[in-house]
Amino acid sequence: MLKGISIAIDGPAAAGKSTIAKRIAQKLRYTYIDTGAMYRALTHKAIKSGINMDSDHDLSDLLEGTEILLVPNNGSQAVWIDGVDCSNEIRSEEVTAAVSKVAAHTTVRKLMVDKQRELANESGVVMDGRDIGTAVLPDADLKIFMTASVEERAERRFQENEKRGIYTPLERLKEDIEKRDRADSEREVSPLKKADDAILVDTTSMTIDEVVDKVIELAEVRLER
Ligand code: DC
Repeated sequence: MLKGISIAIDGPAAAGKSTIAKRIAQKLRYTYIDTGAMYRALTHKAIKSGINMDSDHDLSDLLEGTEILLVPNNGSQAVWIDGVDCSNEIRSEEVTAAVSKVAAHTTVRKLMVDKQRELANESGVVMDGRDIGTAVLPDADLKIFMTASVEERAERRFQENEKRGIYTPLERLKEDIEKRDRADSEREVSPLKKADDAILVDTTSMTIDEVVDKVIELAEVRLER
């Protein structure tokens, strides 16, 4: 087993970050932290509570009174909000459509980043998101910026949805992904952006196993330094 390093995986929506990050964490016996799930959890609770999603103040207050737990579960990760398993709810279309707005607020991000750094304070961590290499863990040992063409990302999401019995037309998925990428890249606070020292991995024509092997190879090089 590799001794603990920190691996940051950033990239646009539906690029396969969490699938890859989970596998790597499992293989290396590292802690996996899905930061997108944390923004999704807050968005879900805000929708349920009728909170104004334009208000950084109201959302931050809500976040301070919310317990979000990322619980390892059979190689995956369950998300518990205030003691209730909301792993499926946070992936709903309604949450997906609103999460970029919630994640654009300054104080919300500051509170989230503090929590994420606390969680990363263990040896051996794989964290995925949009600003891990640039803001959350700027000193991460290995930074990956994972991307794929928007057509490929929409196709993967389509197949994933199909398995879960959800049918959303491919063209609609592509539009949603493009819209979310635009919002995440154009926001003022910690926008989605490749860190200067991140390694770009374009997964368009790669299998999951190929991507996992490549990242593990890169991690091994870091450990040998
Ligand atoms: O990775 P995901 O699709 O579950 O992330 C949901 C949203 O959360 C994404 O559109 C932008 C936001 N996010 C963020 O702003 N910063 C992160 N580190 C992770 C996610």
